Amino acid sequence: MTALARLKRALGIDTRQCDYTYERDARFGHVSSSRVAEKWVKTTCGYCSVGCGMLVGVKDDKAVAVRGNPEHPVNRGKLCPKGLSEHHILTAPGRAKTPLLRKNGTLTPVSWDEALDTMVERFAGVQQKYGADALGVVGTGQLLTEEFYTLGKLVQLGFRSRSYDGNTTLCMASAVSGYKLSFGSDGPPGSYADMETADVVMLIGANIADNHPILCHRLERDAERTLIVVDPRVTKTAMMADLHLAVKPRSDIALLNGMAHVLIRDGLIDSTYISQYTDGFHQYKEFVAEYTPERVAALTGLSEETIVRVARLYGKARAAFIGWTMGVNHSTQGAVTVAAINNLALITGNIGRAGASPFSITGQCNAMGTRESGFTSSLPGYRKFEKQADREELARLWGLDVERIPTARGLAYPDIIEAAVAGKVKALWFIATNPAVSFPNYSVLEQALRSVDFLVVQDGFHPTPTSDFADLVLPAAIWGEKEGTYTNSERRVSKVNRVVAAPGEARADFDIFLDLAERLGVREELYPGWTTTHDAYKEWQRVSAGRLCDYSGISWEQIEEESGVQWGGARLYEDGVFRHEGGRAKLYNVPCEPFVEQPTSEYPYVLNTGRTVEHWHTRTKTAKVQLLDTMAPYAWLEMNPVDARRLQLKPHDRVSVISRRGSVKNLELRITGIVAPGQVFMPFHFAETNSNLVTLGAFDPISREPNFKQCAVLVERFVTK
Ligand code: SF4
Ligand code: MOS
Repeated sequence: MTALARLKRALGIDTRQCDYTYERDARFGHVSSSRVAEKWVKTTCGYCSVGCGMLVGVKDDKAVAVRGNPEHPVNRGKLCPKGLSEHHILTAPGRAKTPLLRKNGTLTPVSWDEALDTMVERFAGVQQKYGADALGVVGTGQLLTEEFYTLGKLVQLGFRSRSYDGNTTLCMASAVSGYKLSFGSDGPPGSYADMETADVVMLIGANIADNHPILCHRLERDAERTLIVVDPRVTKTAMMADLHLAVKPRSDIALLNGMAHVLIRDGLIDSTYISQYTDGFHQYKEFVAEYTPERVAALTGLSEETIVRVARLYGKARAAFIGWTMGVNHSTQGAVTVAAINNLALITGNIGRAGASPFSITGQCNAMGTRESGFTSSLPGYRKFEKQADREELARLWGLDVERIPTARGLAYPDIIEAAVAGKVKALWFIATNPAVSFPNYSVLEQALRSVDFLVVQDGFHPTPTSDFADLVLPAAIWGEKEGTYTNSERRVSKVNRVVAAPGEARADFDIFLDLAERLGVREELYPGWTTTHDAYKEWQRVSAGRLCDYSGISWEQIEEESGVQWGGARLYEDGVFRHEGGRAKLYNVPCEPFVEQPTSEYPYVLNTGRTVEHWHTRTKTAKVQLLDTMAPYAWLEMNPVDARRLQLKPHDRVSVISRRGSVKNLELRITGIVAPGQVFMPFHFAETNSNLVTLGAFDPISREPNFKQCAVLVERFVTK
């Protein structure tokens, strides 16, 4: 028996019938004709931003199977465990099926009319009393682009609140801000194909083997390419690397500056590119002169030789690619770290060419679409709130008075929460997001949820840890029950299709938004003649026309036919023209500062949080897919053997993790060299052992993204009282 067959048998997968594309339930394995599909619906995975193309098998109006679309350019037929079991989510228990309104303390089923009338009335009451911005709304990268575009108009122009953001601020706001700093606009410059073309790929704080598994196939061993992985932890991705740089937590800025130092010193820069397309080199050169290999070695914990070697590898590459995710973004220094990455690409001319790109790998299936259609940190189409011309253009496109369009960004997500605690935001509306698990420093979040006069939670599932607090629960359709588009990390716009009907009275988020607009009396003004998400898409095409994220030439028909189309083509900035005034990119001096909460004798360990391949974010979905839940049913804590010995702990001991803010109790201890001494790691998916009970409420001053990654903790044996 091959190793793969043994693994499949251990997982209960029928090895005769099943390969990557198995048509029967992988866990139960037995043959059952009820699972043989009658038709296959083409769609895009609704979990992560890789954006795999898939076919969902349907029989008797039920989703019975999933397989990777072999013709799809992103995944070429492959799917990860989440994608492979995605049909189960459409029959999963725990769905929200009817609107629920809290009456005398109890969530009680009500009609949609009563639910939405009450919502409009309560929001109006709060806004009259406390001002328009007293309504806080948080959307999500789980929505279709068409829905997020519709929601932005509804909140900003209909409800006229600027306290509006997406949960993407918890995830990749730092990438957005960093791109804006360097290039004058958001927009990842490269493509997945660049990972294959590059001869040097450097991944920083990106554990793609767990979080973007299908991207790993692009980096399978190749004598022509060197894979460098920068991560304090020996992740599965680090194990794939030719060179793993186990830097000290949050010392990546020092490494990047040190590499620039060596590149400049050794003449491995592209002076023509620098002088033609960038500003700020003179100061930058002086600044990185201080980041000698010796100093950087002390800051990062790497040897001087390694720093020089990595710099030379990068500098001598024909085409070099730098990818990153949460190790960079989840930090008070996230935005500037992104700028530091972009600096390296710019001084070596590693941008706008095949294989050469700085590249943020996004999180949620449609984080990108929500970034672009915006109205959160930018106006739709990457337009700027501050720019009169941008506002005028939108007003013209929408047939609205320009005064209607806000002149500044409103509160970002963490600031909405703080304003709720301070009594300034008095009503909250969360859409397809679960802050009670995902937001840092839980006790403050809970205070916010309890402080507001009216809390609406719109979700596909109920109860969730967040909907438990709600005054009103709106049942929504989920992936597989609605039609529209997602945009993946490489700017590929892909079609998502309806496979089955939503359960009970659940409605598509889009229909809920239009219904609310109707009740506000703004439907015809904001959404003239719209009935479907396709109507929204067609307006979005007009609104994005001529912008960097130009969807105008990308029709739904074309997306279906070509398995997705990348806006901007394979790569941006091929002409070296950037989006700052004057068209030049900017080099920034980014100092390496110590992270916010340093370990002390009382709280001696640095806690890092992250993900595991089987689960999606707060497990609202994946906890209900039996296969996935069985593979990874609970959280754990990783600790180095040196520390475990000192604490006299053994493998499988139950431990608690305690910070200045709270504690996570009763975790299984895993003693492993995956984490360095002085560091511990736990996954953040699990509501029962919520890592955000201990994480820090510190936010990037530019992007407002939370510093989920480093906080000081103490680890103790857990004792049942
Ligand atoms: Fe879905 Fe991401 Fe897995 Fe692809 S890699 S199947 S997009 S979760
Ligand atoms: Mo993110 S999980 O890309 O919003």
